[in-house]
Amino acid sequence: MANSFMAQWVYTDTVKDHFMNPRNIWKDDEDFTPDGVGEVGSLACGDQMRVGIKVSDGRIKDLRWLTYGCASAIASTSMMSEMAIGMTLEEAYHLTPQMITESLGGLPEHKFHCSVLGDKALRAAIDDYLEKNGIENTYKAKTARIVCECKGVTDTRIEELVKSGECLTFDSLSQKTGCSTVCGKCRNEIIALLEEYKHIYGK
Ligand code: FES
Repeated sequence: MANSFMAQWVYTDTVKDHFMNPRNIWKDDEDFTPDGVGEVGSLACGDQMRVGIKVSDGRIKDLRWLTYGCASAIASTSMMSEMAIGMTLEEAYHLTPQMITESLGGLPEHKFHCSVLGDKALRAAIDDYLEKNGIENTYKAKTARIVCECKGVTDTRIEELVKSGECLTFDSLSQKTGCSTVCGKCRNEIIALLEEYKHIYGK
């Protein structure tokens, strides 16, 4: 019994270490006043994530995070926090779940989605900082990926529409952006993205 339990323990030592000793946790009693804050996820699903950043000279000087997520989300965000501190805002904006999971030595495939919340919350914190300081957000457009080639609709556009609550169904997205109205080959990917963003933004 014990052996089969251990055999199922598929996390790397690095994941275990970050889960058991998470870095840069946002503690209630700590005096941390962020320059930007990002929140994603849904309390209903138990994986809400908040990231706060301090910025100086265009770099992330400090970062704190808080989550109600699972072990993988905790380990990924802990790793993300170590990677992001010291980065320029642009570098941090381009941190991907792949880069984070690689640094963790990998995550079980079915756990990969847990690692997206930390970097999404980090990007939301950077967006918040730029907006508060009246700085043009040039990073957002650069990270966009075209999902519907026929209509030039990007994942960022879909994300914005879901995040704002404007489009929460495939039909409304299609009506609003024209996506999937020509060859239709993007349909499955758009439905998958829609569900992912609804989950991430608790819609
Ligand atoms: S790729 Fe979206 S309709 Fe053709």
